[in-house]
Amino acid sequence: MALKGSQVAEHADAESCWGKAYDVTEFLPDHPGGQGVILKYAGRDATRAFDPVHPPDTLGKYLDASKHLGPVDMATVAAEAGEDDPDEAERRERLARRPLLSQCYNLFDFEAVARRVMKRAAWAYYSSAADDEMTMRENHGALHRVWFRPRVLVDVEKVDFSTTMLGAKCSAPFYVTATALGKLGHPEGEVVLTRAARSHDVIQMIPTLASCSFDDIVDARRGGQVQWLQLYVNKDRDVTRRIVRHAEARGCRGLFITVDAPQLGRREKDMRSKFTDGGSHVQAGQDTDTSQGAARAISSFIDPSLSWADVPWFRSITAMPIVLKGVQRVEDVLRAVDAGVQGVVLSNHGGRQLDFARSGIEVLAETMPVLRERGLDRGFDVFVDGGFRRASDILKALCLGATGVGIGRPFLYAMSAYGQDGVERAMQLLKDEMEMNMRLIGCASVGDLHPGLVDARGLFVHSNPTPVDALSSTVYDPLVVPPQRPKAAKL
Ligand SMILES: Cc1cc2nc3c(=O)[nH]c(=O)nc-3n(C[C@H](O)[C@H](O)[C@H](O)COP(=O)(O)O)c2cc1C
Repeated sequence: MALKGSQVAEHADAESCWGKAYDVTEFLPDHPGGQGVILKYAGRDATRAFDPVHPPDTLGKYLDASKHLGPVDMATVAAEAGEDDPDEAERRERLARRPLLSQCYNLFDFEAVARRVMKRAAWAYYSSAADDEMTMRENHGALHRVWFRPRVLVDVEKVDFSTTMLGAKCSAPFYVTATALGKLGHPEGEVVLTRAARSHDVIQMIPTLASCSFDDIVDARRGGQVQWLQLYVNKDRDVTRRIVRHAEARGCRGLFITVDAPQLGRREKDMRSKFTDGGSHVQAGQDTDTSQGAARAISSFIDPSLSWADVPWFRSITAMPIVLKGVQRVEDVLRAVDAGVQGVVLSNHGGRQLDFARSGIEVLAETMPVLRERGLDRGFDVFVDGGFRRASDILKALCLGATGVGIGRPFLYAMSAYGQDGVERAMQLLKDEMEMNMRLIGCASVGDLHPGLVDARGLFVHSNPTPVDALSSTVYDPLVVPPQRPKAAKL
């Protein structure tokens, strides 16, 4: 028999607390996000707060069956607390007046719009990076230190930028990298990225910490669409084995083990947004976990003892190609080759982990000459991510020897601001830029790209930039992002 809302509401304190139809009383002290946030929603429908930050099978996995109390008659349950954010009405207004999708001409435009229209906590989680966010900014900045040495008088009437990654063909040399908590940006979450990737024949890496269930994301796949699994390694290796084997059985074509996150980085934008959220509503006498933010709250299961010694075990449990995601020095790339994995992602997690980690593009320039010299560059895929926003950025990495480039935040921002249409447009813009830039550097196919087409000598220079030329920068008329439309206009 379904429980009544009044029965649920009776249990809204730390003595006896039911979350919907689950008794979470004993779980309260163990909740990675702190007990304050559970108590805040106790006795009410907390679905909207719960869903974006917990994959659907969370309660099944982590709460003993005896605490599953059965269905609640939702018609009788007090509604979730109204929007806590006093700026919410204003945000909706901004959303209604956001620029037309056709006014977005590049990936930064999506970021500019997303910043205006996303909920505060969601924006904070997506946009945040570690400590002073130096590495996040360096990721894009480093790409400014690589310049082209184009060829001329090459027949580039037909340009083909399709390529192969881990043996799978794809239409372009970029992929959707794994980013957690898709439902913070869009109510449908990661499946939106799956559908857009399908339209463009682009590979998608599915995150362990997706808001949608893994099976929902795989079910959204069509035809021969290629998906990979990003893995955070669980302390409980049985759980890890189960996840990996399930992904393989469901057709994932690559296992990307994240190796740069033995502990999640300290992301202050994210932490601050959570502080406001929990702080004002907590019941008297309860500790609020103000120190966490969404990131840390969802990641306490990750095994900090993961080491090189575990790699053979992964090879023993799966036939999927294995790639280590988050490698940051050539010595570790060589170790990865020795360990018998099929590739690495040179990445610093979008600047969200170790601040002052070097950019992926710099590590790529350090790595490829060594691999080439030792004849190890064939049959070993070197991916890179972090700060790539233009096709010219992607081409620089391909020239230096990358197999493919991961794009993170830009697709999240496009999804948050415009849904699937936005992600598709973002991918199309990258492809349009790709075609133009391939022509302009004088290459008709990805196979024609090589290190001689770029000057990357500046990459390793970490000194402060040349002082700003204040006079000319005052006179310079900057490019602008698309404007909001006037109040009266309809979508
Ligand atoms: C919001 C967000 C969530 C992320 N979640 C994960 C994750 O769960 N696992 C992971 O390995 N990397 C994760 N990353 C890192 C990305 O896979 C990728 O390394 C990074 O976003 C690339 O930089 P970019 O955002 O500048 O393109 C995340 C990045 C962002 C921005």
